[in-house]
Amino acid sequence: MAGPVPMIHDDLDRIMAVMNTAFDPAFGEAWTRAQVEGALLMGNCHYQLIAADGNRPMDGETAAGFALLRTVLEEEELLLFAIDPRWRRQGLGTKLLQWIDSDARSRGIRRILLEMRHGNSAESLYKAHGFDRIGLRPNYYRLRDGACIDAITFCNILA
Ligand SMILES: CC(C)(COP(=O)(O)OP(=O)(O)OC[C@H]1O[C@@H](n2cnc3c(N)ncnc32)[C@H](O)[C@@H]1OP(=O)(O)O)[C@@H](O)C(=O)NCCC(=O)NCCS
Repeated sequence: MAGPVPMIHDDLDRIMAVMNTAFDPAFGEAWTRAQVEGALLMGNCHYQLIAADGNRPMDGETAAGFALLRTVLEEEELLLFAIDPRWRRQGLGTKLLQWIDSDARSRGIRRILLEMRHGNSAESLYKAHGFDRIGLRPNYYRLRDGACIDAITFCNILA
C-alpha cells in the first residue's frame, strides 16, 4: 500500500502476525495491535506488506514482512520495519526498503528518518541503502531487565 490509506483489518492481522514473530521480546520494540491500529487511524501513517516471494501479498496470503511509516510534510519516518525470521537473509528487507524509497520519491518526500536500537543488525542494511547516522539518544530504550540502550537516528536524504 502506498500513501496514507484507510486501515484494512486483514492487513492489520498480517502486520501483527509478523510483529509477533519478528521482534525479540527482550527489547520491547513490538507494538500492540491497538498501537498499530491507532497509528493507522491518525491518517498520516501508512504501511507496506511483502510476501515471501518478494511480491505484494495476494488476498488471503500471509505477509513475510511489513513496514509502518509516518509522513510529516516532506519527511517520512520509518516507524517499524520487520521480516518474519523464517524469511530473513533472502533479500526481502532490501526489497521492502527499495519500495519505501521509490514510493517516498513518487510523493515528493525529501528525507526518510528512522531510529534504531544501538547494536541492531539492521544497521548494515540501512547504511547500504543510503542512511547516515545523524544522532544518538542516550539510554532511550529500556529493556525488560531494566537495562538501557542508546537509540541511533538515521536519515536518508533523497536526491
Ligand atoms: C532487519 C531485517 C528487517 C532485515 O530483513 P532481511 O529480509 O533479513 O534483510 P535482507 O535479506 O534484505 O538483508 C540484506 C543485507 O542486510 C544485511 N543484514 C540483514 N540482516 C542482517 C543480520 N542479522 N546481521 C548482519 N547483516 C544483516 C546483510 O548485509 C544482508 O545481505 P546478505 O544476506 O547478502 O549478507 C530483519 O532482520 C528483521 O526483521 N529484524 C527484526 C526487526 C528489526 O530489528 N527491525 C529493524 C528495526 S529498526
